[in-house]
Amino acid sequence: MSVESLGTLIKTMERSRTKLFYHCSAVANLADRICILLKIENSLRQRTVASALMHDVGKIDISPAILDKPGKLNAEEWSVIKTHPLNGASMVKERGESKLSENIRYHHERWDGKGYEGLSGNQIPLGAQIIALADSLDAMVSRRPYRTPLRLDAALHEIHRNRGTQFNPEIINVLVESAFWQPETYLHPTKLERQIEEEKSRLVQLVQLYAGTHHPLVYAQSQWLDHLLNLLGYYSGFSGTNKSLLRNTTGF
Ligand SMILES: [Fe+2]
Repeated sequence: MSVESLGTLIKTMERSRTKLFYHCSAVANLADRICILLKIENSLRQRTVASALMHDVGKIDISPAILDKPGKLNAEEWSVIKTHPLNGASMVKERGESKLSENIRYHHERWDGKGYEGLSGNQIPLGAQIIALADSLDAMVSRRPYRTPLRLDAALHEIHRNRGTQFNPEIINVLVESAFWQPETYLHPTKLERQIEEEKSRLVQLVQLYAGTHHPLVYAQSQWLDHLLNLLGYYSGFSGTNKSLLRNTTGF
């Protein structure tokens, strides 16, 4: 699998830009879930997940003063940020992974052509469309230096609102069939509890698939489950994390 040849690059990102690595892990986990719902065949799914894990690797060389700036970026700083898809794609291509590099290069394109390089519609590789969608959801629900996180239901409304402009409407139409992508799931405790059970079984599957708890997707799924458990705690006064579940599953 492609990730092996990129091991050093992933390790460098984990060591030197931990926050970025966790974001990439979350995007890879979401991208995998999108691939499953779209019934994407296995090799394309693996390539999409691997490129999602590397999608922001081009940010490794950008100064934290710009990346983590609490205020608005000026034009010059924006032009630096905008180099990361192409730089990331080159880094991955240099390591012989040209099939992944296209997804990385085009992960900031938009369906309507108003993204970084102006590709539109299905000119954008499917993997890159999936990464863009996963990236948007994770970015909206995560804390950033310049804003508080959006509630999950609000973030999903925003994604639905942008179908046909930012995102491929056909992809969104398929995703909304599943509870995960419906804002209502996160507004009703009973629906949320049902979703949490789904998330637990995905966590167990990933732990088994990757033989332990140290794979980026396992970590990301564990974080996602914690996110939902905290939300449930908000509704019911319950407070807890999935650490005991991980312990039971893995024996740690
Ligand atoms: Fe990016």
